[in-house]
Amino acid sequence: MLSAGGSIPPVTDALLVDPLCSYEKVGLIVNLESLLHDRLAPALAAVAGHPVDPVVRASPHADFQSGAPLALARELGRAPREIAAEVAGKADLTGVAEIAVSGPGFLNLTVSDSLLTGALRAVAADDRLGVPVTAAPERIVVDYSGPNAAKEMHVGHLRSTIIGDALARMLDWLGHDVIRMNHLGDWGTQFGMLVEHLVDLGGAADHSIRDLTAFYQDARVKFDADEDFRTRARLRVVALQSGDPLSRQLWRRLVAQSEVYFLDVYARLGITLTAADFAGESRYQDDLPVLVDDLLAQGLLTESDGALCAFPAGFTGRDGEPLPLIVRKADGGFGYAATDLAAVRHRVATLGANRLLYVVGAPQRTHFAMVFAVARAAGWLPDPVTAEHLGFGSVLGADGKMLRTRAGDTIKLAELIDEAVGRATAPAIGIGAIKYADLSGDRRGDYVFDWDRMLASTGNTGPYLQYAYARVRSLFRKAAHGPGPISVTEPAERALALALLGFEPAVTAAAALGEPHRLAVYLHDLASVFSGFYEKCPVLRSAPEVRASRLGLADLTARTLHTGLFLLGIEAPEQI
Ligand code: ARG
Repeated sequence: MLSAGGSIPPVTDALLVDPLCSYEKVGLIVNLESLLHDRLAPALAAVAGHPVDPVVRASPHADFQSGAPLALARELGRAPREIAAEVAGKADLTGVAEIAVSGPGFLNLTVSDSLLTGALRAVAADDRLGVPVTAAPERIVVDYSGPNAAKEMHVGHLRSTIIGDALARMLDWLGHDVIRMNHLGDWGTQFGMLVEHLVDLGGAADHSIRDLTAFYQDARVKFDADEDFRTRARLRVVALQSGDPLSRQLWRRLVAQSEVYFLDVYARLGITLTAADFAGESRYQDDLPVLVDDLLAQGLLTESDGALCAFPAGFTGRDGEPLPLIVRKADGGFGYAATDLAAVRHRVATLGANRLLYVVGAPQRTHFAMVFAVARAAGWLPDPVTAEHLGFGSVLGADGKMLRTRAGDTIKLAELIDEAVGRATAPAIGIGAIKYADLSGDRRGDYVFDWDRMLASTGNTGPYLQYAYARVRSLFRKAAHGPGPISVTEPAERALALALLGFEPAVTAAAALGEPHRLAVYLHDLASVFSGFYEKCPVLRSAPEVRASRLGLADLTARTLHTGLFLLGIEAPEQI
């Protein structure tokens, strides 16, 4: 809360704890939808003869609307309007100012000013803005970012990083025990080539791998052109996998350099991943022979062209043939799938997670579905533990193709960030624009990366929300008074009040469904409703009580925007 003088609490250390909200305090439920749900449910049950979900939704025609009478009409063989009228007559309507049958048989509900005022005051008095800490905390692994060592992060990793971080923040804030895991690609045959290239460069020189992309490309070119180097690279893989100290040491150096680079990107983006969250593929290598024995003993593996494969039921290729999940390759090596199986087992058995989330691009959908199926069959993913792949679409360039540089190369993330910061008025705005562009649409869809659109200060953009927040805050710099008790009467005040009460349902849905855009879209709507309120309702020029109430509404709007942006991982500067 703002103090009476309107002073602004400093926003510091904004990464893990939002200073405007405390994690400890258990919030109260001030969800009008669920309140009306509870009012209508008994009446509907009485009319239908069994429990019926009233499906109460916010509505442009009244405050809320229920479509339940329409759904019941066929079953009861009665006109929906007649059912609606009977439900309206039977319901306990305390706090409801108006109930009307509308259209083909909807129930339109308008809540009383006093109910709205009471709910809003309760939210304003709550540090958590009416969002309770969950009563059923889960241990949730959020697997996100997952870049590949010695390679540039691509925009797909950027999406995973941004979406995964928003989810981790939300689940965390709701009181779950969140374990962030960065499944770094730090193992595999390409490291034979990379380590061998490092040996050729004299091994010691740090500057040789400063530019990771160039380093990788140089190694690749040599590998493709030079027979002798290819042979040495293959021998190096064997040495690395059998624990040869020098090979391991050089490999470790490559990985460590990459980690430093990734951590730098995270820091610049305000991502909550830390060095402690790296849980790369290499970590599971010792578990793999045992894992294969276990699968063999359970009869879950079949030999196919020398490889050991699982054939989980229900997965077929285009030709109708069963799809293999390759657990051990013909050359005896283990691949991506085996590592992910080991990771599932570790997360459930050792870490005690009861929910696994994977924020990884849509092309890996089948991979994860198969991994989960095999893990279930093997007993590593026992009920009621759940595993879910939260896929996302691609980032496209203006040409509608995968985003690349003009020269056709992969975009370097560090350069992308530099450009965002350079184009925007402040670093927080540039970074906020990139993040919001990623978070504001349904993650399953592709989106076009367009600097002008995402940096615009109007529209559904990060800057728009950041400016909206700063504008509300500026009100308090001008005001000689602080916020007071809220009372709503005017239509524009009511609209803002209803929007403010929508925060809890928005956060809850965004976290439960793994859809941050629900929160993003909500915040954008809130900011637009606030600007409508501000146009119609004078604040500083009003009589003292009205002014105090309107400042109360403004203050709650600012807190809601701040907390919402915090949960999305977007900074909200006090002044721009
Ligand atoms: N390194 C992988 C890639 O670049 C992503 C890792 C995703 N996480 C996982 N558990 N497989 O595609």
